Amino acid sequence: MTKDKIKIGIMGFGTVGTGAYEILRKNEDALKKQIGAAIIVEKILVKDLNKKRAVFVPDELLTTNADDILENTEIDIVVELMGGVEPAYSYIIKALDNCKHIVTANKELLAKKGNAVFEIADKKGLAVEFEASVCGGVPVIKAFRRTLNTDRINRIMGIVNGTTNYILTKMAEEGSDYEEVLEEAKAKGYAETDPTADVEGYDAAYKMAILASIGFHMNVDINKVSREGISNISKRDIEYGKDLGWTIKLIGMAQEIDGKVEVGVSPMMLPAAHPMATVGGVNNAVFVNSESVGELMFYGPGAGQMPTGNSVASDIVEIAKQIALGNKQLLDCDCNENKEFMDEVHSCYYIRMDVENRPGVFAKIAGVFGNFEVSLESVLQKKTKGESAEIVLITSKVNEKSLKKAVDSIKALDVVNQVFNVIRVEGNGMN
Ligand code: NAP
Ligand code: HSE
Repeated sequence: MTKDKIKIGIMGFGTVGTGAYEILRKNEDALKKQIGAAIIVEKILVKDLNKKRAVFVPDELLTTNADDILENTEIDIVVELMGGVEPAYSYIIKALDNCKHIVTANKELLAKKGNAVFEIADKKGLAVEFEASVCGGVPVIKAFRRTLNTDRINRIMGIVNGTTNYILTKMAEEGSDYEEVLEEAKAKGYAETDPTADVEGYDAAYKMAILASIGFHMNVDINKVSREGISNISKRDIEYGKDLGWTIKLIGMAQEIDGKVEVGVSPMMLPAAHPMATVGGVNNAVFVNSESVGELMFYGPGAGQMPTGNSVASDIVEIAKQIALGNKQLLDCDCNENKEFMDEVHSCYYIRMDVENRPGVFAKIAGVFGNFEVSLESVLQKKTKGESAEIVLITSKVNEKSLKKAVDSIKALDVVNQVFNVIRVEGNGMN
């Protein structure tokens, strides 16, 4: 049975919701031709009916009652753009129970509850599309699900959080202050409602869990994704990085080695010539290594009203086309491979510390590293202030667990005043 009108309900009308609405409105005629049916926005759920909106919307479309959408039998697609796990999760489950397709930008919900959502959608033969959940305006999800599904991905490296990339870029290029740039990112609509999710790496961890799930065809338990944010990165680390020919980025890493998978997020020193090192501002990038295609990079705006709104609109159109044609060509999560998580991670590390400025100190530190089988690639000493000196050590590729134990022992040495930072280094340590 074909349809000439596809009705949607939008839940959430903030940065992303207004962007998606505006794109559907502006391109109404062109989209009608593409789909063969008109997309009609039937209702929009908000919290506050009196709030000033970024785009014009007729008052009668707005509601504070979720059931105006969830119980409305005319609505085919529910577009969840509220954020957070609850009540968004309960609304999505109710929408699926009521046979509505889902579009969502909610990475936290997908990372924590995606399995349950996909299971119900699968049973009911309903679509769940989530392009906007990773990398805002960059069409990486569709590329993974519809093109790279025939390839075997080995490694996914992602700059998947726009806010932190914006902050690190401004700190590196303009010497800007962390707090000041974070305020700018909030004002531009990049940051999450609680920006701790951005700066402490939670948002990036959710996105990497989603990418790893669809890239490695497995269920990724968010609790097994390691996470560290950028709040501990100082201008000194950025300066040392520059001197060494490196750029600091918040990197999500998902890799499969010998059937075991590692997924994590942490600040990382990248050689300045690495394609990911040049990704600046709010832009995101995903760098993929796969068996057949080889190296592939996706790049573009990772957050913001219109780029993210476009990803949502494209998901709506995708489902609308299927409904209009009366057929079902829906995609499930395809997470059916059993893979173990890796418990041994190996990398090179940058370690910055403040130590006593006297003979024999370095020998003591090197001795501790030796005891834990951590070998050093190089040592730098730039700043001495009287009785103390700041040193930077670069390790060879080492086992992360051994490194952590070595650093704990080094912190306890009487010649070490403070260990400021330990940052993973991409590649072989030295360029
Ligand atoms: P936002 O600007 O804070 O908008 C959230 C909207 O949801 C608001 O309109 C709010 O209503 C409504 N809302 C929240 N809780 C509600 C509740 N309990 N009942 C009814 N309405 C409720 O958020 P956003 O930046 O658009 O983000 C939306 C989703 O997209 C999140 O999952 C986010 O992680 C994701 N995302 C955002 C971006 C981005 O660049 N911002 C990019 C990719 C993905 P009021 O307006 O009345 O307060
Ligand atoms: N807060 C997120 C970011 C929004 O900065 O990347 C896009 O998901």
